[in-house]
Amino acid sequence: MKKTVAIDGPAGAGKSTVAKLAAKKLGYIYIDTGAMYRAAAWKMLESGAEPTDENIVGVAEKLDVSLRFAGDSVRVFADDTDVTEAIRTPEVTALVSKVAQIGPVRTKMVQLQRKMAKDGGVVMDGRDIASNVLPNADVKIYLTASIEERALRRWKEMKAKGYEEPMEALKDEIAARDKADSERSISPLVRVPEATLLDTTGMTIEEVVRTVMELCGEGQ
Ligand code: DC
Repeated sequence: MKKTVAIDGPAGAGKSTVAKLAAKKLGYIYIDTGAMYRAAAWKMLESGAEPTDENIVGVAEKLDVSLRFAGDSVRVFADDTDVTEAIRTPEVTALVSKVAQIGPVRTKMVQLQRKMAKDGGVVMDGRDIASNVLPNADVKIYLTASIEERALRRWKEMKAKGYEEPMEALKDEIAARDKADSERSISPLVRVPEATLLDTTGMTIEEVVRTVMELCGEGQ
């Protein structure tokens, strides 16, 4: 039977890297829910209008966000524009927590996410997957790491994309997002009691993926 696997955790914990690799090994699709909120933030910035709550809702309501799968790769589309790379800029990152706090935006995204997961065979990562989007997920994992390690990972990731941000600034940005994501009133980041806590500080990606596979009942 094809399972649903929910992976939640704070920014920079390695969720997307691990979820993508685990999905590939399981033969499942990987759904990056953060990318969907990022697509809405990108569209808001692209419109050039002031990102007030009202404008964000207006943009998100009209937006067609889709994840398109081709072999191993997933491309993120905002209407007909491929925004896979564009949604990773510091500007989008700076706006996305605000976008993700808005009720009507979340309602729309959650509806899409549930639709994509309805037949199982998905690994979905985000902040509210086990607690809200897929409360009946077969496997629930809460992935985290120390803030120092998360900042270092984000620094390496950004550097590979040509952005060089000071480590302290990245740490502050991650701490601010942790705070915004866990203190917001609608579907905050929480670890549900039944989720397995996986602290990846000091673990290699391979070790984390192996542990995730074991939790999915696929020990190798
Ligand atoms: O995982 P990420 O950094 O790409 O997520 C971008 C933002 O979207 C993050 O600040 C929190 C928010 N988010 C959310 O609120 N709920 C989700 N299911 C996924 C992401």
